[in-house]
Amino acid sequence: MSACMLRLFPGAPEEVALPGAYLAHRLHERGRVDAPFVYASFVNSLDGRIALRDPATGESRLPGGLVSGNDFRLFLELQAQADCLITHGGYLRDLSAGRLDDVLQVGMQESARELAQWRVDNGLPPQPAIVIASASLDFPMPDSPARHGQRVLIATGASAPADRIARWRAAGYEVLIAGSGASVEGGPLVLELGSRGLRSLYLLTGPRMLDTMLRDGRLSRLYLTTAHRLLGGESFHSMLSGPELGDAGRLRLCTLHYDVSAPDGTGQFFAHFEPRPA
Ligand SMILES: NC(=O)c1ccc[n+]([C@@H]2O[C@H](COP(=O)([O-])OP(=O)(O)OC[C@H]3O[C@@H](n4cnc5c(N)ncnc54)[C@H](OP(=O)(O)O)[C@@H]3O)[C@@H](O)[C@H]2O)c1
Repeated sequence: MSACMLRLFPGAPEEVALPGAYLAHRLHERGRVDAPFVYASFVNSLDGRIALRDPATGESRLPGGLVSGNDFRLFLELQAQADCLITHGGYLRDLSAGRLDDVLQVGMQESARELAQWRVDNGLPPQPAIVIASASLDFPMPDSPARHGQRVLIATGASAPADRIARWRAAGYEVLIAGSGASVEGGPLVLELGSRGLRSLYLLTGPRMLDTMLRDGRLSRLYLTTAHRLLGGESFHSMLSGPELGDAGRLRLCTLHYDVSAPDGTGQFFAHFEPRPA
């Protein structure tokens, strides 16, 4: 792993250490129970793809070369600062099918052991709580959260299937109703989680959850890695899939770093943005 990257903004360009760069943001101290700090991260290509979809099967995948070791290190630093990881039914289905890795716990990778200690040293519980957003409520529950003593909550909308809500409750899970339709809405979800004492909420979700958080004015910060490559592909996902967003999509650049570490001589930008103050 390259130890350094070039900070391009703010200030004059300067080499800075990559490990610890996002831990320094102290996201766990930024939220309040009445205003949790909600952050998301994405990695995309220069042509704006976050995943490619197989036109024949409709199956989606993260193309090779989009995620790097340095990007993953920064992802783990964001994960370490969360009171709560928000994931969704689609991720749990992919996890169970072996299409994606389990990223629901902190400090599981050899290179990330010290992040588990960092949580303890910084007054956070050993592992974050997990929130599963789902409209269908049709997903397999992984066993890793129970093994690690994590609190698990399920979030859905008021018109989600009542029999499935009842089944999850009967199985001992807390089911939050956060939205008037079948889907989870950003505003009600953040309120519900804040009222349970969860102040830093990391969205490990995709375009739909980003969309609702932005529309409801609940996104506090967006971390964006841009890999310096063009992907093409006839069918793909970008960061948003809903209708035109308007002013809710206007963001202010807070930092921009350039990482030149890729062995083939290409690099990536690490940026973070915040919505404009109201
Ligand atoms: N490159 C990156 O940084 C990045 C980041 C995120 C995702 N991705 C990839 O992009 C592709 C699309 O992402 P995605 O699968 O996250 O797509 P998505 O369309 O945002 O979410 C898919 C599933 O999540 C649940 N969901 C999401 N938002 C919800 C809401 N507001 N209320 C209720 N349920 C909600 C639904 O589950 P139910 O069907 O259970 O209702 C839905 O089927 C995937 O291949 C993914 O791996 C890439």
